[in-house]
Amino acid sequence: MATAMTEVGSQAGTGAGWDTFMAQVNEVVFSHPVVTHNDYCMWFARGEASREQVRDLVQQFSVFSNLFIVAQLLKTINSPSIAQARESCEILVNELGVVFNSGRTSPNADAVKSEDEKDREGDPELVSTTGTVDGGVYRFSARHFEWLVNVGEAVGWGFDDLGKRKFGRESTLFFCDELARIYGSEDPDIAEGASFAVENWAAAGFWKQLIEGLDGFRNRECPDLRLAFFTWHDRVEDQHAEHTMDELRGAFERPGFNQEKFLQGAEAMLGGVKAFWDGLEAKRKELETSPAAA
Ligand SMILES: [Fe+2]
Repeated sequence: MATAMTEVGSQAGTGAGWDTFMAQVNEVVFSHPVVTHNDYCMWFARGEASREQVRDLVQQFSVFSNLFIVAQLLKTINSPSIAQARESCEILVNELGVVFNSGRTSPNADAVKSEDEKDREGDPELVSTTGTVDGGVYRFSARHFEWLVNVGEAVGWGFDDLGKRKFGRESTLFFCDELARIYGSEDPDIAEGASFAVENWAAAGFWKQLIEGLDGFRNRECPDLRLAFFTWHDRVEDQHAEHTMDELRGAFERPGFNQEKFLQGAEAMLGGVKAFWDGLEAKRKELETSPAAA
């Protein structure tokens, strides 16, 4: 379909100027309910979730967390520039266990390390939230999925219960499939819109709300629960949040940038995000009316 994309001037793009575009971004992204008031996360932050409700969150989150890797790989493959491919790869391989190299660790000392020492080097309580994977050390124990398995163990889940597609409910799988389709899209405008949407959703504070709720649950009845998976991501997210507007400006100024497709990607992606949380919200209500046997 032909668009006005070929008309590249100093004010690149298909549509309006920055202020008008920002007003649309505001409407589509910043005002989206999943960013402004996520019902499930607001409830969860109260710290009243039962064991069954926490178990449900951990299992569905593990499916999202694992299948997110597929979307991130697609995003890397479909990146429109080598710089963006590297940025995407950074997230991908960190997710899989490459620890950020913050200049503090020395990979050379590896030969003398015991398995226990290596495992500890992947511990989310210790690994850096800053730096780059370039020159970073790989640790199996630094796979984010393994961190989540450790969270799950405290509430009775094992490796066999987590992370696989078959454990995801319909709304969770819809979210994961939308991530692959939109966030991992071959179309850079759509993918950038989705990426911006995901970053702003993540920066809106859901990690903090989950941490608050899990903290309450741990203090009440689950002393073995480890929150480091969540606190690590929260710290990383706080840093990402600072860059999202710069990235938006960069996209806007890119020759050929299609505002409409960007906004479409953002809106559709947030629909996927919302489905995920709405699925958790419905299930937690179901578990309230018919709690599982203690
Ligand atoms: Fe992660």
